[in-house]
Amino acid sequence: MNTQEMYERMKARLEKVVPDVELRIKAELAAQIVDLKKEKNAVILGHNYMEPALFYSIPDFTGDSLDLSRKAAQTDRDVIIFCGVRFMAETAKILNPSKTVLLPSEKAGCSLAASITAADVRALKARFPGVPVVSYVNTYADVKAESDICCTSSNAAAVVESLHADTVIFLPDEYLARNVARETGKHIVFPSLTPHPSPTGGGAQLDYQLIGWHGRCEVHEKFTLADIEAVRAQFPDVVILSHPECSPEVVAASDFSGSTNAMIRYVQQTKAPHFLVLTECAMGDNIAAANPEKDMLRLCMVRCPHMNTITLEDTLNALKLNRYVIEIPEDIRRRARSAVERMIAIG
Ligand code: 13P
Ligand code: SF4
Repeated sequence: MNTQEMYERMKARLEKVVPDVELRIKAELAAQIVDLKKEKNAVILGHNYMEPALFYSIPDFTGDSLDLSRKAAQTDRDVIIFCGVRFMAETAKILNPSKTVLLPSEKAGCSLAASITAADVRALKARFPGVPVVSYVNTYADVKAESDICCTSSNAAAVVESLHADTVIFLPDEYLARNVARETGKHIVFPSLTPHPSPTGGGAQLDYQLIGWHGRCEVHEKFTLADIEAVRAQFPDVVILSHPECSPEVVAASDFSGSTNAMIRYVQQTKAPHFLVLTECAMGDNIAAANPEKDMLRLCMVRCPHMNTITLEDTLNALKLNRYVIEIPEDIRRRARSAVERMIAIG
């Protein structure tokens, strides 16, 4: 694609969000990526947290984790470039193993995925035999392989309810688990893995339905009630949206909570003088670019250091150098696939 054409296309969308001097440089990179993408028969998937110049130029599809995993499963292209983080690229490989899946940055991890190992899940299953395990997609393939079913932020409560079980192990996000417990009316406990007579350690009659883990999203855990109060004091008519990886206090004080796609839809469908989206700041820019009539406030003091490692430069290099290839041992992939597919069947 010609750089000028790409520049015009990006400018039409991003004029008010990205300064022209940056737009010109990024348009040149984006044009090269689009050409190489065609040559290599690749599809580019872009998570909602990608910076605006990437989000609105090179992806074939954009969306939340659930959406993009469906797209990854359906593609017939030879190569999938995942502009997101490692667990997302792994999910693409789990679902579509004959494709080459590339993650443009080796550093794109996730604090939630790093918070739990397959051995931790095995220890929980040994402690609570027969209790089904729900794992958030923000986990690595070996943890998914130990799980009965996965969930994302857009279907977590539906997945838990679909099990019709008295007790469910829900891993690894403490806040998402607490938010799901509230939404489904279930009691939740957080057992330690050292032996106790009961998960609460007291030997009392058990009274719990969700068993959680102390994983946290290093981004969403930083938003506080005080932040919300300060913003509401300054902008009394602001509509505040939060991701369910935020604390239950923050979610309760928000006007809406949902997955990244659900928050985007909510802003598009709601009339209000100001919006504040409590999630990775780039998503506020992306919503502002697509909805110039909406006034988006942002709290950009909190950023996802993992999503932010994915740049246009890295994506170009991923295509040129065929890096970084996602590989998953076949036995782990097969077991993980059943947990992910069970989730996708629920929607
Ligand atoms: P979504 O599934 O809502 O896109 O969220 C992914 C994520 O990593 C949020 O921090
Ligand atoms: Fe992981 Fe949080 Fe970053 Fe999402 S925002 S990728 S949950 S660290």
